[in-house]
Amino acid sequence: MRIIAIVNQKGGCGKTTTTVNLAGALAADGHRVLIVDMDPQAHATLAVGLEPDDLEVNLYEVLVEPAGASRMDSIIIDVIDQIDIAPSSIVLSALEQKLATERHDARTERLAAALDTLPPLYDFVLIDCPPNVGLLTFNALRAASEVLVPLETSFFAIDGVQKLLETINLLSDRIGHELHVRVLPTLYDGRTRYARQTLGDIRELFKELCFDSVIRLNVKLREAARQGLPISLYAPSANGALDYASVAIELAASPPDLVAARPGLLEEDKEDIPPGPRREVVVRFKDSAAGDVRIAGDFNGWIPDRGVRSLIASEGQQRVWTKVLTLEPGTYQYRYVVDGEWREDPGNPQSAPGPTGQPNSILLVR
Ligand SMILES: Nc1ncnc2c1ncn2[C@@H]1O[C@H](COP(=O)(O)OP(=O)(O)OP(=O)(O)O)[C@@H](O)[C@H]1O
Ligand SMILES: [Mg+2]
Repeated sequence: MRIIAIVNQKGGCGKTTTTVNLAGALAADGHRVLIVDMDPQAHATLAVGLEPDDLEVNLYEVLVEPAGASRMDSIIIDVIDQIDIAPSSIVLSALEQKLATERHDARTERLAAALDTLPPLYDFVLIDCPPNVGLLTFNALRAASEVLVPLETSFFAIDGVQKLLETINLLSDRIGHELHVRVLPTLYDGRTRYARQTLGDIRELFKELCFDSVIRLNVKLREAARQGLPISLYAPSANGALDYASVAIELAASPPDLVAARPGLLEEDKEDIPPGPRREVVVRFKDSAAGDVRIAGDFNGWIPDRGVRSLIASEGQQRVWTKVLTLEPGTYQYRYVVDGEWREDPGNPQSAPGPTGQPNSILLVR
């Protein structure tokens, strides 16, 4: 059971949308998912078609006293095929005050204790957090081993994110378990230069901790929430559904230990390579519309930008991505990954069919 907290103290960055639609996408791939709605606004509860006021029990009963943990099972509702939810209600907002006199440790381990009582039914538990780092978010972080931070590409403030990452680190130390953090760019409008640049900045900053997938702006996501359905059921061919499907694949394919191991792998790779006549090879990609450009090829195991030094500069309206590769003489195949889309190098006429028939660009190093 992978327990993932969806956290960002910034309001409206797509936490709830990510929780519900990632749940939908994971369920469509055959995983069983539990949504835990830790936000008193109860938006996730609403977004799976429930009316919080009509429910007799909710997470409040579970969290308000230590004995509540055993009631977790009884508040969970099977809402949609493969998706269950532990619903929220506005009464959750009273919890902080109610538990104010208790020790910090005792107050913040309630959700972890409640999840511990569940049978191992679920592949993923997704916890939707409120837009603040208070008692409810602390409970989510203590229960989770992974954290997904949605980052709005239409309004990006690095200060807030850094503060959040510091809090997560502090908490990791305090609770003695590591939290694997990854960020997901959301609300991406590729038509605006600002969003394209922001996406590039986020990628540069977070590197492999940033998902390859990006969530584009898509009104169908809003409509789906209003209809009380994940987009995988409401509009399965909409961009929003495709984007969350791709996050689901990435997430399922990369358990946290694998992501964390990546930098280590790179170090090993370096040691394994005998000192040979390796040299630096520079390739460039120019585009005025792209936000994020990475390179993947047989030289880096087709993992975009792995082991690659990347520089971005502007040339008039164009942005220029310079990729510095260190390679032995030989012939290599590669493609660019432009805003998540795999493409041939437009500036290189030489290509060859790859293993699945798609054309790969050819790089010859003498
Ligand atoms: N990719 C998207 N395209 C279009 N609309 C979106 C997208 N993601 C989220 N929205 C809309 O933006 C609004 C805020 O999103 P959401 O509720 O998921 O954010 P949040 O981080 O959970 O907010 P809060 O901090 O209040 O809990 C909602 O109306 C939602 O439908
Ligand atoms: Mg929300």
